[in-house]
Amino acid sequence: MTSISAIDAIRSQRAIREFSDEPVSEEAVTQLIQAAIRAPSASNKQPWHFLVVRDAEAKRKIGLWYMDSVYSYSGQERPSDGITEPHPIMSAPVLIFACIDAVDVADRLTLGASIFPAAQNLMLAARSMGLGTTLTTLHRPHQDEIRALLGIPESVETAALIPVGYPGGDQHFGGSRRRPAKELTYYERWGATK
Ligand SMILES: Cc1cc2nc3c(=O)[nH]c(=O)nc-3n(C[C@H](O)[C@H](O)[C@H](O)COP(=O)(O)O)c2cc1C
Repeated sequence: MTSISAIDAIRSQRAIREFSDEPVSEEAVTQLIQAAIRAPSASNKQPWHFLVVRDAEAKRKIGLWYMDSVYSYSGQERPSDGITEPHPIMSAPVLIFACIDAVDVADRLTLGASIFPAAQNLMLAARSMGLGTTLTTLHRPHQDEIRALLGIPESVETAALIPVGYPGGDQHFGGSRRRPAKELTYYERWGATK
């Protein structure tokens, strides 16, 4: 594996939504989670858990719930025959739920702030290993069904669902579009750009 610098991983990391069939090793998954747990968390409580899903039937069900949310929230029209297919993004070789123990942290902002840095670490480590990811949240309207399917306690929030795999189709790293930093950076006084 060729390694790339942290800054190159950051610059080229982006949402990858189609994956090749190339398997993702258990060792690679372990490395991703080892990177995730290096993240900061409020009072260093480390209130996170990671649930790795490879089972095809579980991924199919999650893909159906995810697709239901796509229809509900993206405006994409449901098929007229009522037959829906699982969303392809959830057929990635590995799905990783980045979970947080909700009873551990008091306010909602702190709650998110104690799991999303870990998710980002995981995704950057993945990028450095040539693995694509996307931070997704569209499973959340079906979180209760997902809890029941995977035995996740009610006190645990599935903050993000991260499909992981080697990029497939025409997906590639890099080329993400972002607003220029200089337009968003102020010096000494709000609105004062350089
Ligand atoms: C809080 C949050 C929720 C997101 N939820 C989804 C999602 O459910 N599905 C999805 O495909 N992408 C999701 N994304 C990914 C964004 O669409 C993606 O980061 C953004 O479009 C930039 O993509 P790029 O890095 O390829 O430019 C989410 C990102 C964030 C930060």
